[in-house]
Amino acid sequence: MRIDVVTIFPEYLDPLRQALLGRAIERGLLSLEVHDLRAWTHDVHKAVDDSPYGGGPGMVMKPQVWGEALDELCAEGTPRLVVPTPAGRPFTQALAREYAAEEWLMFACGRYEGIDQRVLDDAARRMPVDEVSIGDYVLVGGEVAVMVMVEALARLLPGVLGNPASAEQDSFSDGLLEGPSYTRPEVWRDLAVPEVLRSGNHGAIDRWRREQALARTFHRRPELLEALPEGALDKHDRAH
Ligand code: ADE
Repeated sequence: MRIDVVTIFPEYLDPLRQALLGRAIERGLLSLEVHDLRAWTHDVHKAVDDSPYGGGPGMVMKPQVWGEALDELCAEGTPRLVVPTPAGRPFTQALAREYAAEEWLMFACGRYEGIDQRVLDDAARRMPVDEVSIGDYVLVGGEVAVMVMVEALARLLPGVLGNPASAEQDSFSDGLLEGPSYTRPEVWRDLAVPEVLRSGNHGAIDRWRREQALARTFHRRPELLEALPEGALDKHDRAH
């Protein structure tokens, strides 16, 4: 899979070349190209922003610079364009799965008050464009949101995780939060690992994990239970 990121702070994305994702890039499972938006400016100040029409605080990123960048980078085809913004639709595990199935994604990082809307409207005439938010809070720019999204989707690519079952058992993969995990020692600071996990009874262990996931979801994220599809809870689940 190919990922391009356009930003005025290319070094901000360097952490994506570490650890698991770094190895995925080295192994050719993922190609990551980060581009400096200022390369498409023509003035001595390399200006990328201007004051907003209609007034108000902050600055808006200029359409000409973004337009030229996207024209050049998309000359050989049409990626799915993802624009991080707190005004976007929510990024979820389902969207991470959709993105992991794309051949080519391009992320356009806005700073200041965002990018002139016509850049996105123009791009949408040629390619799919998603405005996406990673949560109900405001960051100073799209870069960290891109890191979040790329990390979430990259671990779903075939071969990236050592054990593919990890992704299948994640929180959200069955619509529930994942329950607690334990490792050795059996007792630590007078706290014992739950008996059932040491029982070797895999039926009982699965049942217990399911109950823990349901209880945690009920207490922390009850709206997730409401959103489960018809038939997702069986008669054992309903008893809890
Ligand atoms: N840019 C600023 N805040 C953001 C958010 N919450 N999600 C995505 N991009 C952003």
